[in-house]
Amino acid sequence: MQNFDYRNPTHIVFGKERLAELDQLIPADARVLVTYGGGSVKRFGTLDKVLSALGGRTVFEFGGIEANPKYETLMQATELARKESIDFLLAVGGGSVMDGTKFIALATKFEGDTSSLLFHGFAPVPVDAKDVLPLGTVATLPATGSEMNAFGVVSYQGGKFPVNHPSIYPTFSMLDPTLTFSLPKIQVANGVVDAFVHVLEQYATYPVDGRVQDRTAEGIMRTLIEIGPITVAEPENYQARANLMWSATSALNGMIGAGVPFDWTTHMIGHELTALFHIDHAQTLAALLPSVWRVRKTQKHAKLLQYAERVWDITDGDEESRVEQAIAKTEAFFQQVGLKTRLRDYDIAKAQIDDIINALEAHGMTALSESGDLGLDVSREILEKAW
Ligand code: NZQ
Ligand code: ZN
Repeated sequence: MQNFDYRNPTHIVFGKERLAELDQLIPADARVLVTYGGGSVKRFGTLDKVLSALGGRTVFEFGGIEANPKYETLMQATELARKESIDFLLAVGGGSVMDGTKFIALATKFEGDTSSLLFHGFAPVPVDAKDVLPLGTVATLPATGSEMNAFGVVSYQGGKFPVNHPSIYPTFSMLDPTLTFSLPKIQVANGVVDAFVHVLEQYATYPVDGRVQDRTAEGIMRTLIEIGPITVAEPENYQARANLMWSATSALNGMIGAGVPFDWTTHMIGHELTALFHIDHAQTLAALLPSVWRVRKTQKHAKLLQYAERVWDITDGDEESRVEQAIAKTEAFFQQVGLKTRLRDYDIAKAQIDDIINALEAHGMTALSESGDLGLDVSREILEKAW
């Protein structure tokens, strides 16, 4: 196992009918900015319940944070937070609202050029902890894990940029599975696949004898395989949705990634597909992951073999065929929950692979993978196989 530090300060408040507890979770004298997306929280009544739980506090609202939140929109919210001396942010929504709110938390007291916050990759942005506004979340879409991690992704000038800072862990996140019952099926399918791929990008690398991490990862994946199709088909099946929600949070809260290598290749190439072609985040992953593995199966051989046996119970055939069966099963699972698994299914023309390669180059994505040796030539091979 590799050396690691692990600290996750987010207080999870899980279960139904707990929104009234927001009153105890946010300081009584806070000036609160409630952030939300395109209106689902208004349509389904969540926002009203949140506002009523906040009681007599001074509360402002900022709606309209779009999917794949844009820097320009987030700066409008930042201006409001500055003008009204906001001292607590409450994100009510999916990954885009939670991520966007993390950016607002970093930007509000930042005195320099706020767009510079987007160019630090996975390294923490250089901001003092005391200059980051505290935030909480009411998560309405189980997928990204943003509710319990210190990352956000912001769209800016044709790219998607991660931001990371230890002070943007939400102080609390309310996870009420019933608030997700209103999700369209496709968003639930997106959530299943995003969570599944988060686990895999921290698992399908090379063995380091991280037994707790591996077995926890395998447990989350087996859970998603069991409940994924059920929760897509039966939106109000509470237990299935509760298990999806906790799987998605557990997939990217740092636990299974501590002390093991990771390979975020699928995500990094996927971000370019979203930025260029506006394809939903999880759908980019469904189209790319099988191809990443087909191209990199030699480097990942031992873990893919372990994955085949422990996640899919594949024990027949030689090693090569067990790995191929596991890749095929993964692809079929993504299709079973409702996502397409080829780039051409998303109306990308083969010639547009050049645009994707150019974007990867422009964003410095030229040395990906667990070993840092996945250059643009290999990305091209992955994209061609995924087409
Ligand atoms: O905007 P509204 O009207 O709220 O509608 C949203 C949006 O259209 C809707 N929705 C959310 N909750 C709903 C609902 N509709 C009905 N009922 C509900 N309860 O769903 C749509 C998609 O929402 P969005 O927040 O964009 O989806 P998701 O949670 O999948 O977030 C995607 C974003 O997260 C980033 C992605 O890059 C993308 O920008 N990621 C963040 C990560 C992180 N912070 O660690 C990691 C991920 O890999 C990912 O990159
Ligand atoms: Zn993701």
